[in-house]
Amino acid sequence: MHTPRTNIALEWGAMSYLGLIHRYGPLLDLPRHCLEITLHEGNTPLIPIPRLADEMGGSFDLYVKYEGLNPTGSFKDRGMTAAIGEAAGRKAQAVICASTGNTAASAAAYAARAGLRAIVLIPQGKVATGKLAGAIAYGAQVVQVAGSFDDALKLVVQLSENYPLALVNSINPFRLEGQKTAAFEICDTLGKAPDWLCLPVGNAGNISAYWLGFQQYDRLKNTGAPHLLGVQAAGAAPLVQGHPIMEPETIATAIRIGRPARGEEALAAADESGGRILAATDAEILAMQRRLAGEGIWVEPASAAGLAGLAKEIRAGSLDPTGKQIVAVCTGHGLKDPDIITSQMPKLARVPINLNALEKLLLID
Ligand code: F0G
Repeated sequence: MHTPRTNIALEWGAMSYLGLIHRYGPLLDLPRHCLEITLHEGNTPLIPIPRLADEMGGSFDLYVKYEGLNPTGSFKDRGMTAAIGEAAGRKAQAVICASTGNTAASAAAYAARAGLRAIVLIPQGKVATGKLAGAIAYGAQVVQVAGSFDDALKLVVQLSENYPLALVNSINPFRLEGQKTAAFEICDTLGKAPDWLCLPVGNAGNISAYWLGFQQYDRLKNTGAPHLLGVQAAGAAPLVQGHPIMEPETIATAIRIGRPARGEEALAAADESGGRILAATDAEILAMQRRLAGEGIWVEPASAAGLAGLAKEIRAGSLDPTGKQIVAVCTGHGLKDPDIITSQMPKLARVPINLNALEKLLLID
């Protein structure tokens, strides 16, 4: 009640969260030279969305793991604290990645934090404004490739084989080590793994990381493991179609990927978990983005894909949610891709500085 100020400061010190390597370091397979390059990423909320669960059929617990609340607005920060900490620890001079945008912004921020040069290759004209602005604001050298993400990835892999550049795409195993902490957090919050985890799939690093995380926690703490429901965009669904897509196309530009680097692992993870990978159309993804915003959770289009896929499965009768705990991973913040909203915005009403005019507009037909 009348705690002296100094004690309050001490309590805050004890409670403060210092990032996921600090929190979960002993559980991560990182080399000793890895530095703690952190922006206090992770520790994101698990938000219940009961109204949406009711609409989908009811009688189950539905949560959003809101990864858009990471420091640069996406889950990539979990992987970057590890990958860039490792690169900085072995005194790499520069980091490089290909990206549909979020990896670029995250790599740029963590490289800045570590004092490293960052180079990012992006598919020309296909990266959302908030992501590109982020990468530039954090000081990365941004290069557009006249091709897809897959083309850009091929180039950075070749370049990093010939030059001392640390590759920080999710081919880098340390990225997965960082990203698997999201599974730990979900188990820590719920006390066990959920029955289903649904999430978008692009280059397939994240679904692979979650599976590693859930399996590890189950071995350590008997938390069980969820069925994985990975969701690709219908125009960029190589894992559903069973072959690479040469010209992937979707409004969900984050997952506009035709040849996922960790595709085999993702398919194996979904299979082992008793889950599956399916596709949702752009219309289904955008409808779910709007519906989530109606709960106060604005995510970028790709981030709504997991829930769009879940809704589809429940509607089709292929997934019975009754009595289950289901977590949907919302991977990136809506602010990353404002154009998708503003381009569809109705013309905004205008009033002069006049109360009557405002009343007329708002209160009278
Ligand atoms: N959601 C968002 C918002 C993403 O940015 C990505 C991937 C994914 C989902 C899919 O994750 O690739 O591990 O399967 N974005 C990468 C990038 C490709 O460059 O930012 P994944």
